[in-house]
Amino acid sequence: MSQRVRTAVFPVAGLGTRFLPATKAMPKEMLTVVDRPLIQYAVDEAREAGIEHFVFVTGRNKGVIEDHFDRQFELEATLESRNKTEALEELRKDLPSAGRTSFTRQQEPLGLGHAVWCARDIVGNQPFALLLPDMIFRAKPGVLRQMMDAYEETGGNVIGVEECDWNDVSSYGVVVRGEGEDRSFRINGMVEKPKRDEAPSNLFISGRYILQPEIFSLLAEQTKGAGGEIQLTDAMQTLMGQQRFTGVKYQGKVFDCGSKLGFLTANVVFALDREDIRQGFVQELRKLDLDDAI
Ligand code: G1P
Repeated sequence: MSQRVRTAVFPVAGLGTRFLPATKAMPKEMLTVVDRPLIQYAVDEAREAGIEHFVFVTGRNKGVIEDHFDRQFELEATLESRNKTEALEELRKDLPSAGRTSFTRQQEPLGLGHAVWCARDIVGNQPFALLLPDMIFRAKPGVLRQMMDAYEETGGNVIGVEECDWNDVSSYGVVVRGEGEDRSFRINGMVEKPKRDEAPSNLFISGRYILQPEIFSLLAEQTKGAGGEIQLTDAMQTLMGQQRFTGVKYQGKVFDCGSKLGFLTANVVFALDREDIRQGFVQELRKLDLDDAI
């Protein structure tokens, strides 16, 4: 039987340069899609998948993330005195339980692989989930939940993948598909940000992973790869020589909120999904003379 996955790592140290000036003093993970910060979507998804311990790899300027996952007594008291019970319940529901969060810092921006490695002592010798909070999903059940179901059958390492436009492969890690079924198959290789004509497929790694702890010692020795950064993809490619990697082509769709277009689209789609917003929002959209803008 596969060892249960109880811990999730959230790398939140990135500088968010693509969203300046919004992210000059505010972490990009606190940008909101409708009324929830990006990081909250990732934490909710992890919780739905049964995760109990939330590990954040932060950096300078990221203190608000820690505050976001703490209680705010003054605010709670005010909401209580104003009988805003719904808002109060919403805040409490979002909060991980006491002692179930950990924060560590990535001191230098050396890449995703290095950020994950920074969590090694907190995670210890157990499998863990990794969620990149830039990527949020419209999926039911959540993507990590779907991957956990696959993991219970296969064990090893599990990577969430989705098809992208061939013009976009050079923005992501891309996998080599091996034998298996349509939605769950062996991964035989992977490459970080390949050129379009060198990409082995258009199945890209969309920011959700279940990894075995042996990845940490490989990350410790990993040399710089694509973009001069220590790449998680390169360490996974090495681990593939020793352990099984399964690709899960989950049901659902990713929104890459690390890009302006993905972020804006996510706001529209998630607003349209909300019972309390949809009708009014559609009315406002209809009033816009979009032909004028195009
Ligand atoms: C990282 C990973 C890449 C993955 C992507 C998903 O790249 O290295 O394999 O496809 O996240 O967002 P980054 O976005 O940090 O350049």
